[in-house]
Amino acid sequence: MTSQNSKIYLDVHRTIAEISPLLFGGFAEHMGRCIYEGIYDPASPLADEDGLRTDVLAKFKEQAYTVMRYPGGNFLSGYNWLDGVGPKEQRPRRRELAWQSIETNQFGTNEFMNFCRKAGIDPMMAVNMGTGTIQSAADLVEYCNAPTGTYWADLRASHGYKDPYNVKYWCVGNEMDGPWQIGHLDMNEYATKAREAAKMMKWQDPSIKTIVTGSSNDRMPTYPEWDRVVLETTWDKMDYLSIHMYDSNHHMQDTPSYLALARRFEDFVDTMSGVLRYVKAKTRSNHDVYLSWDEWQVWHPGQHEGNWQEAPPLAEVGYNLEDALVVAQWLNVFLRKSDVLKIACVAQVVNIISWLHTKRDGLLVHTSFYPFKFMSNMAKGNALDVVLRAPTTATTRFGDVPTLDVSASHDPATGKIAVFIVNRSMTEAQVTDLVFQSDAPAQVLQAWQMSGTDPKAGNTWDNPNAIVAQPIKVNAPKDGTLTLNLPAMSYTALEFGA
Ligand code: AHR
Repeated sequence: MTSQNSKIYLDVHRTIAEISPLLFGGFAEHMGRCIYEGIYDPASPLADEDGLRTDVLAKFKEQAYTVMRYPGGNFLSGYNWLDGVGPKEQRPRRRELAWQSIETNQFGTNEFMNFCRKAGIDPMMAVNMGTGTIQSAADLVEYCNAPTGTYWADLRASHGYKDPYNVKYWCVGNEMDGPWQIGHLDMNEYATKAREAAKMMKWQDPSIKTIVTGSSNDRMPTYPEWDRVVLETTWDKMDYLSIHMYDSNHHMQDTPSYLALARRFEDFVDTMSGVLRYVKAKTRSNHDVYLSWDEWQVWHPGQHEGNWQEAPPLAEVGYNLEDALVVAQWLNVFLRKSDVLKIACVAQVVNIISWLHTKRDGLLVHTSFYPFKFMSNMAKGNALDVVLRAPTTATTRFGDVPTLDVSASHDPATGKIAVFIVNRSMTEAQVTDLVFQSDAPAQVLQAWQMSGTDPKAGNTWDNPNAIVAQPIKVNAPKDGTLTLNLPAMSYTALEFGA
């Protein structure tokens, strides 16, 4: 392996925007083994008195999730929330059509709120715009947020939960542009229904923030026209536009291009940001709508149909080194686009499309767990506009791309600086100068690195620590500069103190 030279310039006065803590959110759907056997598993020796997995809760705390989207997903569009509240023995057992599974309804809205409280996470609820009505959406807001004294709030109290939950974030439907969605609508139909639903929901509780369903990905035939039409109809009733995207190297089998996926993510945000600006101007509005990337993840092909089982093992494929480097870039893009991107939820948090896998008495952590953990814990304050001077790497899909992918933050309250770097080259190490153009920090608080020579290497139940982040020795900057050795195919996270 040979090496090249790069420079990264940081100035705490050259900022992009304040980083929204909600960028470090998760998504938990009634799909496969996410809720059942992931979050909630009364049969596990690791479950607490409420049936919640204590080991999973501990990992969620380590990951410092700020917000959790629930209950779906495609599941949402056929879900009657009344099935999941009240005495458990009276809840219906149903055929769940989105994932062809059996839904026992033993976990529902109140169990989710209890889980969020224990995990220290804010709930982000979603209302059904497929089979659901605008009335059932508004009723759920009353059930969750209204003081007692009226029907739905009193029903909540009769279920044992007198105090309102004051849920702030509400998704108005899920992926309604997708023909796969139960109750899929065309853009005009959805826009009108979503506007009326949000109107009623905000009449129930004017303090809530609503999230309208945008494009399911940048390959939809209706992208980005769907987003324009939906926003033009709903602008003043909505606070965020939901966008989704999944990707993997499965179909390409082209690791250099895969390791340059930040380009796709940035293009997606830039297009959506343009649509937001266009609609704001066209509607002559003073109101702002931001982006909520509330489903994102590497998703490898796997089993997606439940064959009418309870908690079938759907989409449970582990993640390897190259996947972790893609996740790290996704997170870098979140910081670099933090002026418009204010919420993001990784899909999903356990078992399904996840870097955490459970068995009844154990937990396996995959590679991509680490970049999320480091960024959610370290990236505070302002995102910095980093200047990068690096050689390029050739890719078939994106042409020449910089060999490094970088983001950084500075917290004016603590003086801490964090830097996150992917070396996407498969062959070249980078001897990289980190140049502090404003006051250089005096101390290195944390320095972690993950790297390897095989992009397909990952962790398994038999070898759970094959690829993990390792602490590395980094000296404090001298004369404003610090030189790092970044191996090929590596991820590095650094935290500095003033
Ligand atoms: O996260 C898995 C599924 O992906 C969700 O249910 C759906 O919204 C998306 O298509």
